[in-house]
Amino acid sequence: MADTLEPRAAIRRMAPYSPPTAGRHGALRLDFNENTVGCSAHVLEFLRQHLSREALAVYPEYGEARRELADFFGVSPDQLLLTNGTDEAIQLVVNTYVDSGDEVCILKPSYAMYRFYAEVAGAQVREIPYEEATLAFPLAALLEAITPRTRAVLIANPNNPTGTGASVEQVACLLERARHAAVLVDEAYYEFSGLTLLPHLAEHPNLFVSRTFSKAYGLAALRMGCLISQAANIAWVRKGQSPYSVNAVAVLAARAAVQDRQYVRRYVEEALAARELLCSELDRMGIPYYPSQANFVLVRAGHRALELRDRLREAGVLVRDRSYELPGCVRITVGTRQQVRRLVEELERIW
Ligand SMILES: Cc1ncc(COP(=O)(O)O)c(C=O)c1O
Repeated sequence: MADTLEPRAAIRRMAPYSPPTAGRHGALRLDFNENTVGCSAHVLEFLRQHLSREALAVYPEYGEARRELADFFGVSPDQLLLTNGTDEAIQLVVNTYVDSGDEVCILKPSYAMYRFYAEVAGAQVREIPYEEATLAFPLAALLEAITPRTRAVLIANPNNPTGTGASVEQVACLLERARHAAVLVDEAYYEFSGLTLLPHLAEHPNLFVSRTFSKAYGLAALRMGCLISQAANIAWVRKGQSPYSVNAVAVLAARAAVQDRQYVRRYVEEALAARELLCSELDRMGIPYYPSQANFVLVRAGHRALELRDRLREAGVLVRDRSYELPGCVRITVGTRQQVRRLVEELERIW
């Protein structure tokens, strides 16, 4: 048998990452921070109107969508790049600014794909831990970790899985300190927190903001995101992007999604009410948790974390174990109050 090819050292060193996406159909899915009821009906209607045999035969065209989405985000079209989910936005920022051996700063715990793409690029990853007691944004430690060799800083605001956020002032401090580095502020949960750095783009030439249609908009299956920055940065990043990485169905869906603002506003209102309900039920049951600015709550289940996840799964309710990075912690997505009641019913039985 022939020898297998040796991959790059960066790939050999990486730990495999495989999120538990199998077998979720039919369950109450409180495990991936998706929209738990589905996208706006207008999106499906729009797809029905615009999809045809001919439309699917043609390579995607982005001009109209870029103009409409730029308008929606309050930026100019040359400041915005359509991306294949946030994941491609992260990858593009890393590929554009980080060479093998360069330093990339990330927080711990945070969204796994920051480390993933930094490692693929062969970067030196510096992880700055959240303080365990509060899981508050560790600004001072992050500022201290930035060196002249730092080429990128990748953070989520609010953060996953902690649910905690940084203020605009804190991020501005970071942007000043890391002026020589690309700073990506991943705003995947913006719709739930209401806090964004977008109005500050002009002040910070190193600021990149990403948004996604995978969470509040309910389009995770289509992989649609946006990367927004000053026009000169976007021109560089676009140079390194594959010309058709976003498919035409995702583009149509995103255009329709931003037309139905009322749907997302109502969904977010319901999710916030559901989060409040979940927190008050956890209080009543004496189960500690961290306060959240997103559509999920990080619950401190202690030594029963894995048992809780498994027994909920047996009852048809999926939640996400995070105990491998925060001992005893389980992350629960919120969607509707009715879903919270179902979860609490099961929790009461198990706890
Ligand atoms: C902070 C953060 N960013 C991005 C994503 C994924 O975004 P997308 O589906 O747009 O790639 C997630 C999903 O869990 C997330 O938690």
